[in-house]
Amino acid sequence: MNVTELPFKLMLEPTAFKSFQATKRIVRRLSDMQAYFRDKDAVDEILANSDRMLYEFLEIEGEENQSLSFGMTTIFPGTIGNEFHMTKGHFHTLEEDGPEIYVTLQGQGKLILLSRAGQEQVLDMEVGSISYILAGWAHRTVNVGQEDLVFLSIWPGQVGHDYASIAERGGFPKLIVPGENGPVAIENSTFSRCEEEV
Ligand code: F6R
Ligand code: MN
Repeated sequence: MNVTELPFKLMLEPTAFKSFQATKRIVRRLSDMQAYFRDKDAVDEILANSDRMLYEFLEIEGEENQSLSFGMTTIFPGTIGNEFHMTKGHFHTLEEDGPEIYVTLQGQGKLILLSRAGQEQVLDMEVGSISYILAGWAHRTVNVGQEDLVFLSIWPGQVGHDYASIAERGGFPKLIVPGENGPVAIENSTFSRCEEEV
């Protein structure tokens, strides 16, 4: 039985998604994200030993109009060079744009946001926090803690994911790196703004 054929409930806890069959499971390893980290020597050194798993996400996809998709992402702790493990990050595709809600269930994170008009923001993610991502804002999550960062995400089912626009811009405006008193956001020197942006 496909779990989406009947109503169901899950507990709001990090292990919730282990109890049923998600319609999609995606694992991203360092080899899938080599270009996303700036310290290429660190990338090569780690890959020479093992292809580290950075995060996984499980989804129940709602593909039709007026449906909802939801998923659970787990970003494993660690750094590549001095950048924390993070997701690729994406815009929702322009034609099928829509907002998204993240609920943090475990760990400590940062949510890096970038609007199509060039506004930027970094929000903390901690257990029990709800982040509202406006339509038109690209989003990337970063695990800045020592344990797994686990969060639930809910978004309109018809939304597509645009990763290419992030790559074209050289990433997000900010990088999250360890600082003396905890994680800090620094300028990303490879990020380029589009000419029409403010
Ligand atoms: C869905 C969403 C999340 C991410 C997941 C993995 O719209 O924002 O479920 O898809 O956290 O991140 P990406 O997709 O950037 O690899
Ligand atoms: Mn999204």
